[in-house]
Amino acid sequence: MELTLKIWRQSGPKDEGRIVEYPVSGVSPDMSFLELLDVLNEGLVAKGEDPVHFDHDCREGICGTCSLVINGQAHGPIAGTTACQLHLRHFHDGQSICVEPWRARAFPVIKDLVVDRSALDLVIAAGGYASVRTGSAPDANAIPVPRDDAELAMDAAACIGCGACVAACKNASAMLFTSAKVSQLALLPQGAPERTSRVLAMVEAMDAAGFGNCTNESECEAACPKQISVENIARLNREYTRAVWLSR
Ligand code: SF4
Ligand code: FES
Repeated sequence: MELTLKIWRQSGPKDEGRIVEYPVSGVSPDMSFLELLDVLNEGLVAKGEDPVHFDHDCREGICGTCSLVINGQAHGPIAGTTACQLHLRHFHDGQSICVEPWRARAFPVIKDLVVDRSALDLVIAAGGYASVRTGSAPDANAIPVPRDDAELAMDAAACIGCGACVAACKNASAMLFTSAKVSQLALLPQGAPERTSRVLAMVEAMDAAGFGNCTNESECEAACPKQISVENIARLNREYTRAVWLSR
């Protein structure tokens, strides 16, 4: 395949940044999108040029590190797929592909396609954990959990913290991320002791980090590689309302 990449280049947080066009030839449809960037970078390094900086780690769709807006879509055009698991067979020979970083006030660009997503860590640090003593592993069924609740908690726990939901949202809202993290604990007995303080602290941290609010566009769910449901946002709103009333 021959492709033309139009890539956001930005030398640092204070640089204005610009789109630079790169032709890439001889790539296989079986390559992943990150392998395409590897091929491009090998060529740039061979010519003594600065390679394109981008985030990646597992390349298996589980760590949440890759973060590319591909032709205007966070993680690219295939639903339920991270950029690292996106293959070139989903593009056609001769296609032009625009590659940009996550864009959100809370995610400042560090360099090229790499953004600072530590704002999500601040939300987790505010309450995304159970700090009560839960003891050693109990016998099965010692703590009964309704099957539906267990399933919903597991679905919420699939969030890999990539931030695509923020990048896809016109408000740069982190409500889908925060709601998944609140839900996975609120649905289980182990999360109950800190249920009220947790949601208040996490929403406060989310707002303080500069994320916008949800206006029910559902772009987050469409972009999420783990297909986290916006029903979690509804649960977050209920949890928050309950916590505000209880803390009055
Ligand atoms: S909710 Fe989905 S898009 Fe948002 S951080 Fe979690 S996995 Fe990524
Ligand atoms: S590099 Fe780990 S999810 Fe893409």
